[in-house]
Amino acid sequence: MTGWLEGRRALIVGAGSGIGRAVVDAFRSEGARVAVLERDAAKAAALEAEAPDVPVTVGDATTRAANDTAVAAAVAAFGGLDVLVNCVGVFDFYRSIEDLDAAVLDDAFDEMFRTNVKSHLHSVKAALPELKRSGHGVVLLTESTSSYYPGRGGVLYLSSKFAVRGLVTALAHDLAPEIRVNGVAPGGTLGTDLRGLPSLGTAERSLGDAPRRAEELAARVPLHVALSGEDHAWSYVFLASDRARGITGQAVHPDGGIGVSAPRKRS
Ligand SMILES: NC(=O)c1ccc[n+]([C@@H]2O[C@H](COP(=O)([O-])OP(=O)(O)OC[C@H]3O[C@@H](n4cnc5c(N)ncnc54)[C@H](O)[C@@H]3O)[C@@H](O)[C@H]2O)c1
Repeated sequence: MTGWLEGRRALIVGAGSGIGRAVVDAFRSEGARVAVLERDAAKAAALEAEAPDVPVTVGDATTRAANDTAVAAAVAAFGGLDVLVNCVGVFDFYRSIEDLDAAVLDDAFDEMFRTNVKSHLHSVKAALPELKRSGHGVVLLTESTSSYYPGRGGVLYLSSKFAVRGLVTALAHDLAPEIRVNGVAPGGTLGTDLRGLPSLGTAERSLGDAPRRAEELAARVPLHVALSGEDHAWSYVFLASDRARGITGQAVHPDGGIGVSAPRKRS
């Protein structure tokens, strides 16, 4: 522990598994007090059992009401809020426009953008008064390599993640100077439970179940690393800390260097 977040009060939205769960542990190890909003009751119960001092709200982050309840729980426990992190997301398992039936497009679009984009907006809106009151408020949204490059998700996931990147830019502009807003853009990640969409019949499918995922992740990036939520969590710690006090509207890219990959040779 180095105390980078000593005294900070954080709400982490979507923290029952994967990256958000790792951010909970990293923030606590750096001295922050942490509250959580999580939709999955079983994951919430497991977190409460492991960390009884973490106030956990069970609710759907795509709704204003659940975010209001979670902010109120954090404020009741800690007296205020300094950092909002959103790690909510769902995936489309690489469906291209040709793979998507026109009949499911309306529902799939709504499910993807409601979860990946609207939940972020609602959580920021609900936390805003407390973050302003904090005097050093920070918002951290979870982007992806899919916020920058094609090929690592389908058309709905990619466009939703570009939208999260847009939120970072717009919110950083609108909320300065009181609140810093940044993104973390992880590459493919080990050990998460990223789920699909009900409308595409993949709600119970988890990206974490993909076979040989570690080898596949390492092979696709210049650094040949397969990163986990624990690796990414330090980017959130840095951006939440005063070490990043001059940084807003940016993203940190813990992705093994995918942006400097050489173009594929033509065979
Ligand atoms: N897994 C990857 O390879 C990867 C890569 C880049 C970016 N990301 C992004 O990282 C973020 C976290 O993904 P992860 O891989 O850790 O997945 P995850 O499913 O393990 O974590 C997401 C958490 O959010 C919760 N959640 C989902 N919808 C919710 C809702 N409506 N309300 C409240 N909680 C909800 C889930 O139950 C889960 O606990 C997502 O935004 C994802 O798009 C993931």
